[in-house]
Amino acid sequence: MLWLKVAFGAILMVNFVCSSPVDKLYLDNEIGETKFKSIPKSDKLYNLDDPATYRLPNNSIPVEYYITLETNIHEGDFNFLGNVIIHIKIVEETNQVTLHYRQISITRIEIIDPVLQLVIVSNATYNYIESHDFLVIDLPITYQPDTELILNIDYNGKLRDEGAGFYWGSYNNSQNETKYYGATQFETTDARHAMPCYDEPGIRAVMHLTIIHGKSYTAIANTEAVGHYDTVDGKVVTVFAPTPKMQTYLLAFIISDFDHVNATNSRVPQRIFGTPKVIEEGQGDYAATVVGPILDKLEEILHIEYPLSKMDHAALTKFDSGAMENFGLITYIERNLVLNPALSLSAKYSQQGSIISIVAHELVHQWFGNIVSPTWWTYTWLNEGFATFFASYIPSLVYPERRPMRSFFSYLTFVAFMSDEDGSWAMNHYTEDPKELDSKFDGIGYHKSACVLRMFMEVMTEPVFLKGLNYYLTDNYMKAATPTQLHKGLQTALDEAFPGNLLDLNTIMYSWEDQAGYPLISVNVSGTNLVFSQRRYPKSNGEIYSVPITFATKTNPDFAVRTPKVWLPTASMSVDQKLIGYTANDWMIVNIDQVGYYRVDYDTTLWRANIEQLNKDHKVINELNRALLLDEFYLAWTQFNRVNAADALNILNYFGKEDENNAWARGQTTYNILKNRLFGTPVYEKFAEFIRAKTKPHLDILGYEGFDGEDPDRASLRSYAKQWSCQSIDRDCYLLEQQKFIAYYNGSGGLNFNFCYAMKLVEDPIYTQIVIGITTSSNFPNRAEFVRNLGCSLRVDNLNVLLLEILNSGNNLSNIERENLLTGMFSNSELGLKTALKFIDESYTPLSSIIDLPKIMSSMAGYINGEEMTAKFRETVEKLKAGQHLSDANHLAISKTLETSEKWFTTNYKDISDYFGLDDTTTGVPSTTPDSGTSVLISFSLICLCTLMSLIRSIK
Ligand SMILES: *[C@@H]1O[C@H](CO)[C@@H](O)[C@H](O)[C@H]1NC(C)=O
Ligand SMILES: *[C@@H]1O[C@H](CO)[C@@H](O)[C@H](O)[C@H]1NC(C)=O
Ligand SMILES: *[C@@H]1O[C@H](CO)[C@@H](O)[C@H](O)[C@H]1NC(C)=O
Ligand SMILES: *[C@@H]1O[C@H](CO)[C@@H](O)[C@H](O)[C@H]1NC(C)=O
Ligand SMILES: [Zn+2]
Repeated sequence: MLWLKVAFGAILMVNFVCSSPVDKLYLDNEIGETKFKSIPKSDKLYNLDDPATYRLPNNSIPVEYYITLETNIHEGDFNFLGNVIIHIKIVEETNQVTLHYRQISITRIEIIDPVLQLVIVSNATYNYIESHDFLVIDLPITYQPDTELILNIDYNGKLRDEGAGFYWGSYNNSQNETKYYGATQFETTDARHAMPCYDEPGIRAVMHLTIIHGKSYTAIANTEAVGHYDTVDGKVVTVFAPTPKMQTYLLAFIISDFDHVNATNSRVPQRIFGTPKVIEEGQGDYAATVVGPILDKLEEILHIEYPLSKMDHAALTKFDSGAMENFGLITYIERNLVLNPALSLSAKYSQQGSIISIVAHELVHQWFGNIVSPTWWTYTWLNEGFATFFASYIPSLVYPERRPMRSFFSYLTFVAFMSDEDGSWAMNHYTEDPKELDSKFDGIGYHKSACVLRMFMEVMTEPVFLKGLNYYLTDNYMKAATPTQLHKGLQTALDEAFPGNLLDLNTIMYSWEDQAGYPLISVNVSGTNLVFSQRRYPKSNGEIYSVPITFATKTNPDFAVRTPKVWLPTASMSVDQKLIGYTANDWMIVNIDQVGYYRVDYDTTLWRANIEQLNKDHKVINELNRALLLDEFYLAWTQFNRVNAADALNILNYFGKEDENNAWARGQTTYNILKNRLFGTPVYEKFAEFIRAKTKPHLDILGYEGFDGEDPDRASLRSYAKQWSCQSIDRDCYLLEQQKFIAYYNGSGGLNFNFCYAMKLVEDPIYTQIVIGITTSSNFPNRAEFVRNLGCSLRVDNLNVLLLEILNSGNNLSNIERENLLTGMFSNSELGLKTALKFIDESYTPLSSIIDLPKIMSSMAGYINGEEMTAKFRETVEKLKAGQHLSDANHLAISKTLETSEKWFTTNYKDISDYFGLDDTTTGVPSTTPDSGTSVLISFSLICLCTLMSLIRSIK
């Protein structure tokens, strides 16, 4: 859940209780034992201002809870009444017990002696330590270990309105009446809002829940309802079967008028709940078909039955998190569980994939998190790492045609790397303040942990790993565990399968779990040896990981073997080339399918051999490793200086034959550098031509336009090829977008075109009509889009029309719009850049009162490349500075930008012009129509990734 919550800042704490410490114990007359009469106020365990720890003291434990809640949510009333009877056991001598509660009012605490069957204190005194949510109850005497007591606590509260704790939600029904419901979200520390309890993940107890609610509503919870009784005041009492011995954060209940649909093909009865409209429209039907096969598959591979008699999945309109794995009652924000039958085929396909993966994530938790849970949030990854890994792995067994494991490559590992660079913490990371616990639900707890677990599955092989998980789950069944227990289960299975193996999993795995970061593995040819070495990337504090290394070489091009060939437990290791099947100048690919959680830094010799192989016959190297090479190439070029700009062109050169979109996705960074740095230089046109030669073979086959229901891989390949091509002065692309735009303009087409490309070649009278439209009307349709993209035009006369309007104070353009028109011009083509620069050079005096010149110049500096443009731009900058239009600070910032560009130019330009056969870098004929294209496609693919990220981040 918790990434979302982090954004909300600290959890709001409202104190309903005004419990000034009570000095005297109230003694119940019924007991009448004078010896209790004048018990002095107990010694404080805590300094009330600053208790030493947020952890509960270990002097008592809960055995069973009987929780009764009464609500009138069916009437839109948010108040609730509560009673909890907790059977506790004293485990260390004490005269106080400590529980959690927050945001509820306690009205009475009774203490009962179950042996005497007597109320020994009918109104106990207690302290509330608000900063820690502690309820410290004074006991009448000091008790010895093994004493059993019963706490009977009456309280009341209000349903919260953020989607956490015991909270209210609402929806509008088909008669447009607002209907309210009550629901829960307790992870990490919100069970204490529904009842006083021992709210820590390592503390388990059986829970008996009873809910009193309106007759028109039903209540569902973790377990099945075993009784319904009418009350005298016309309500219903729903009694639930006892839960397994479980932790408080997994308790859940919903009081609503929701409907449900039964799941199909499931050993365990499962139901999908949602608002009556959602269920009636069949929006739960897809989920109803997937929950069964996924749960069955988990039982099958883990060889442990799901322990409850039912499983419900509920789609909620209000929920603070994406989904939550409560034992037997998984809750989801509606969009994560329902499928609208009206979606297009492509949207439906992707929504189905998302439902499969989220359902799988939460069902996996029933084992990893619910059956076995971490002793403390330090090991949150024992829940989330498995749920994240298996959310791809289990679907790959049930729906292999969707190739769900590829998300590991295209998305998961990269999020893990990003999260695990500077300032990250280790997978095992202790924190106890409730406000900090949310940070455990992050890219380390989810993504990195998933990658590390997957790496060990491949190291051990799948069947051995699964057997080890079975040992782990069986040995710790319904208990709390630490990573040591996981390692032990895995080690047992490993030793059975490979007697005499030398792997000490506890040491090896802790090297990944206890140290932050990931290793960069350098591979260097050294004489007749290969040297493998490691360091944490990007910054090392001397971390050494125990790294399993896999590879394929020319002599041994087997990409199917994912068990390690070399184990690198030290900083560096030298291996005889012959021993591992490497011959000088062969290609070599390390980290097959990116199973290892590391990046690779090849030396120049290996890079050149690998790039040569891509050009000769790329299919010899498997798909994911080709993509991985492109990812690592970017680092090799920009960070390690192993390769140069000519190598960059050489690696892009094979793209005419690359028909897997992962490689295109990873080639993007290298391509972008070249595109941006060559913009406006004499070789740009050659480069654009080079790129078009790579995209054309694909676009000839795929066409420029997709169709609904198209294979998503094919659609994605087209989207990359089209993006690169349209950015590279592709007239076919521009004419096509222009056609769609003109259809829209004539009222016969939709807004399905790229504004910038559509404007490239458009002629009068249309161009002028748009310019007149935006400069005369304040509600010209899509005015902002046109303002940003009119400058994309590749026609000088069009650009001149724009420049006149920018200076024309008689039109209704705002100053921001004038800036946007100018920015659209200099950022989208060399022609636009030159035109805009000349314009500023000649008209900066009148312009300075209209637009923010320093801002425009700083932004423009980012597009200046090559000696010729730099010289011209500098000239203008100096004029502006002399005319007091730029401050010293502006001037300095601009100079820095130009220096970076010049430095790049000096280092790389000669290689590139040589590559394209231009002899002189400075006298090359300037091109007329280079173009970078504002790319809707780029932003589209980024949006996809971001949406996916926020989706996955918000799942618990
Ligand atoms: C209670 O015991 C657990 C497990 O041994 C320990 O981690 C925790 O710190 C203890 N709590 C306190 C307040 O000492
Ligand atoms: C319990 O004690 C408190 C404080 O001494 C008092 O205000 C309250 O009325 C008592 N409640 C009952 C039910 O006796
Ligand atoms: C539903 O009611 C709200 C006000 O309660 C109103 O604004 C809205 O237009 C109504 N919707 C429909 C579909 O009638
Ligand atoms: C759903 O299953 C329950 C028993 O598990 C059954 O009583 C009920 O009739 C089923 N509902 C439908 C619509 O099939
Ligand atoms: Zn989770």
